[in-house]
Amino acid sequence: MKNLEWGKLSFSYTKTDYIIYSTFKDGKWSAPVLTKDFTYPFSVYAGVLHYGSSCFEGMKCFRGVDGKVRLFRPEENAKRLIRSAKFLDLQAPSVEQFIEMSLMVIKANSEYIPPYETTASLYLRPLLVGVNPQLGIRSSSESMFIIMASPVGTYSGDRILVPGTAVVGRNYDRAAPNGSGSYKIGANYAQSLHPYNIAHAQGYRELLFLDSKTNSLIEEFGSSNFFAVKGNTYITPKSPSILPSITNASLRTVAEDLGMKVEMREIPLTEMAEVDEANSCGTAVVITPICRIDDKVHLEDEQVARSYTFANECGPKSRKLYDQIIGFQKGTLEDRHNWIMFVDC
Ligand code: PLP
Ligand code: COI
Repeated sequence: MKNLEWGKLSFSYTKTDYIIYSTFKDGKWSAPVLTKDFTYPFSVYAGVLHYGSSCFEGMKCFRGVDGKVRLFRPEENAKRLIRSAKFLDLQAPSVEQFIEMSLMVIKANSEYIPPYETTASLYLRPLLVGVNPQLGIRSSSESMFIIMASPVGTYSGDRILVPGTAVVGRNYDRAAPNGSGSYKIGANYAQSLHPYNIAHAQGYRELLFLDSKTNSLIEEFGSSNFFAVKGNTYITPKSPSILPSITNASLRTVAEDLGMKVEMREIPLTEMAEVDEANSCGTAVVITPICRIDDKVHLEDEQVARSYTFANECGPKSRKLYDQIIGFQKGTLEDRHNWIMFVDC
């Protein structure tokens, strides 16, 4: 195992030894190539550079209490990548190819899988891009599928469940009702960069988007889904323009296991005055408690139209949900839903 300062890792990039890639050309995928070269020369006319032919995934790999290496629900990430690629009319790898290459890149970088005792994990970033030269606006006929691996900590280094603030900037939309919001494509993130920069400069951890049609219903954060706990009910938004989070789906199942009611429905921002616990959830953020949501008409303005405040620590029900998910991922709980894929390394 590498001698890294595991406790100092945050959610940022650390170079590992290998990436893996495969290219789709002339109707077939090349054999996967493991390489130490992290650069790739493609045409300056590649569709990814001009027209955003890019989709990606994020998943985590853990060293368990028994020393075994566990990958969390990779088939779901593979299926979501295929769905995103379909939206971009890009050739996607099969579920089998996605998983085979994931296992290969984990094994090649196994020395970077953090020790069990830490809160860190090995994050995999599968990326699919359109690479053939083109000028007209059309989908790319040649694609490149790459998987990178980087050890990561939580957003707060080796601390877990550290609450953060979020802001709603009503003058910025994330996704149109019939647009691309439910796909994990680069374009969705590109348009969030500018408002994110403004929010971060103002000291907010997260940017919370409302639906672009009525500007009143909670959609999701720029990096993750939203869920709240209201009494014994887990509530999370239902919308055609949010990313179907694998973490959120897992949490809904676990919430039911714990005897909670689960509601996936429209959630007006104003309902935040009535909920007990509010959180973001996703692979990178896991569960991050939200201690305040500021609602701003204009993100740039100092003026806050209304604030919703929550406890400055993770709520008890959210903590229970967190412990379950981490328990599966680290092997301290029985994998009763069959969500774990063991990696032999
Ligand atoms: N929503 C957005 C916009 C995201 O980028 C992510 C991260 O992947 C999520 C939600 C959470 O999805 P998942 O739990 O599958 O990581
Ligand atoms: C993830 O949680 O895996 C993400 O992709 C979110 C963000 C880092 C883009």
